[in-house]
Amino acid sequence: MHSKEQICHDDYQKTADWLLSQTKHRPKVAIICGSGLGMLADTLKCQQTFSYSDIPGFPHSTVKGHAGRLVFGELKGKECVCMQGRFHMYEGHSLCKTTFPVRVFKLLGVETLIVTNAAGSLADSYQPGDIMIIKDHINFPGLMGLNPLSGPNDDQFGPRFPAMSGVYNKDLCRLAMDIVKQLGVAQYVHEGVYAMVGGPNFETVAEARLLHRLGVDAVGMSTAPEVVVAGHCGLTVFGLSLITNKVVKSYEDTASVNHEGVLEVSKLRSHTLQHLVTELISRMDVNNNTNV
Ligand code: HPA
Repeated sequence: MHSKEQICHDDYQKTADWLLSQTKHRPKVAIICGSGLGMLADTLKCQQTFSYSDIPGFPHSTVKGHAGRLVFGELKGKECVCMQGRFHMYEGHSLCKTTFPVRVFKLLGVETLIVTNAAGSLADSYQPGDIMIIKDHINFPGLMGLNPLSGPNDDQFGPRFPAMSGVYNKDLCRLAMDIVKQLGVAQYVHEGVYAMVGGPNFETVAEARLLHRLGVDAVGMSTAPEVVVAGHCGLTVFGLSLITNKVVKSYEDTASVNHEGVLEVSKLRSHTLQHLVTELISRMDVNNNTNV
């Protein structure tokens, strides 16, 4: 199911050219909205919206809570494009389909990618409703060889062996932390390590304990492949996790996580996340690409 179906440069280019022919927007910032976080796109001014099913070459989203629309518009005067709904490996998409939009964004002229997701926390100090600025990730599928960059390298996008050590932009993390303090929400915002697992099942207790021991602060089923592809083609990356649940780490704990609960909590605190992303975009310098 995850065999590498070949997508060539022309396929990304065709989709990008089609979008450029359909909209006057020329976004510099792309935002991928996680589960229950799609309302950020609703705040864009001068919106133009495309259903994924109407965009040539685009995959289709199958998950409840993910609208499946690409929204162009302005946020605080900056040209943005927002994915309302992303593509997951567990839906059966190949990883190059999962990350297809990221390369299309690159070809549209996007310079900065903002990724958001819903995640479960391993860190004891994190509570549901907290926000984690992603300072780094562990890409478990990637470590096992499930990597969107496997197969022939497309040199037009980036090098065969891209570095990932600084993939989450430090200046944007710092700027976000400053904003968090100014907004007075520092008590529930953290900086931490995100781990991607394949899903779709949530973790067993033993898996949760393993992740905790490995230094993972939050776990989810997305984001890492998109960030790897973004890093490969030179996009500046910033990521946020909304903590929707604590991952069960004890056999005595009778709590259990479910998708509806995840969506409920993400709605509850999504306005704070939205506020943070909006402020960040408003303050970053997208024109000379210095970001602060
Ligand atoms: N585990 C994995 N993915 C998730 C979780 C979780 O606990 N919560 C939201 N996405």
